[in-house]
Amino acid sequence: MKIQIISLFPEMFEAVFATSMLWKASERGIVEYSMINLRDYGLGPRRQVDDTPYGGGDGMLLKPEPLVAAIEYAKSQDPSAVVLLPTPRGTTYKQSDAKQLAADKNGLIIICPRYEGYDERVTAWVDRQYCIGNYVLTGGELPAMIIVDSVVRLLPGVLGGETSTEIESFQDDDVSIEFPQYTRPAEFQGMKVPDVLLNGHHAEILKWRNNTP
Ligand code: ADE
Repeated sequence: MKIQIISLFPEMFEAVFATSMLWKASERGIVEYSMINLRDYGLGPRRQVDDTPYGGGDGMLLKPEPLVAAIEYAKSQDPSAVVLLPTPRGTTYKQSDAKQLAADKNGLIIICPRYEGYDERVTAWVDRQYCIGNYVLTGGELPAMIIVDSVVRLLPGVLGGETSTEIESFQDDDVSIEFPQYTRPAEFQGMKVPDVLLNGHHAEILKWRNNTP
């Protein structure tokens, strides 16, 4: 899966893509990350990417020309890719969206807005707009990382050998909390691991897990 990120701050992704499962996924050839610096598509000698809003208002908006040029470049690299726009105005991003994006296996192009937003006309180049929660962030980079993380971990071969993606909670957008888990030591500062987990009786353990919030 090719994952292309359009951002004014591509360096924000370096550590995230170079760590743990996201890094392993690229090492194993399951995903390929490419960063597209929106500044490279800026206009004029100052590579302008933003401008004041028509009708007035605070702050600056991303201009359509650089964004659309960057999207079209990304599309030329991967014509079947799905174009995603993180925005507080989007539909709430859920586990079922992550599952669908992972199952579709199309590449992803993720636009990371900055400043006070973007010219609405760019949405003509966007397939899906997602809000990752009821709060406002300073840009689309953190939402993009969340989307990438949630999709990549579901791709076959990323979480090696484990069934953890199948048994975990939030499987179908329900809000049931994952069962509590413990590791050694069996007693820590007076707090004991439940006996049922120590006796090796798998049916009982399963029952306990299903019944423990
Ligand atoms: N950009 C700023 N806040 C956001 C949010 N909550 N979800 C998606 N994109 C955003």
